[in-house]
Amino acid sequence: CCRVLVLISGNGSNLQAIIDGCDDNLQAEVVGVVSNKPDAYGLVRAHHSEIDTSCVIAHQGETRANYDVRLKQAIDKYQADLIVLAGFMRILSDEFVQQFEGRMINIHPSLLPKYPGLNTHQRAIDNSDSEHGASVHFVTPELDAGPVILQAKVPVYPEDDATILAERVHEQEHAIYPLVVKWFSQNRLAMKNGIALLDGNPLGEAGYA
Ligand code: GAR
Repeated sequence: CCRVLVLISGNGSNLQAIIDGCDDNLQAEVVGVVSNKPDAYGLVRAHHSEIDTSCVIAHQGETRANYDVRLKQAIDKYQADLIVLAGFMRILSDEFVQQFEGRMINIHPSLLPKYPGLNTHQRAIDNSDSEHGASVHFVTPELDAGPVILQAKVPVYPEDDATILAERVHEQEHAIYPLVVKWFSQNRLAMKNGIALLDGNPLGEAGYA
């Protein structure tokens, strides 16, 4: 069974989708949830599902390197096969990321490589994009730049605001993230030479859901 550890900072709706997905998939189990925010609602969701939780709160003035060492310690006790970033809103150091190469994934609310970073929905609206979406990718040291595993597109309508567009994207996130976790748990996913592979075949641009 694939031991899945989920890192969150907030609401945890993607965490919920993954918990629900794992309930239907005996090959994966969410063994823990780690948050950097003590009031993240995702921690409540974890408790409802009787999943162990840890909170690693950054100290005032703490260096990123120091925080990431403490985060690594919190993670290690779960002996996870897969680390899933689900709305974990901290930048991770290169050293930290390298320790989990090929077994840490992230979901980002844009059609990467468009709009790495924050405020993706507003940026898509401001650019009058006709489509937007979400991407699941392997995490590499460069922010939001790791190889894309799966993307889902949504339309952008002229009357959209960022809130309604975010909701449309979220719905797709909840479909694609559990699927990627399932692929990983079935040993079908890999990262080789900076490319994501499914059953040995390259993903990425062609990986639209
Ligand atoms: C999701 O939309 C995810 O794509 C985004 O945060 C949201 C978390 O929602 N992640 C990022 O912006 C990462 N840079 P959730 O807590 O309800 O799953």
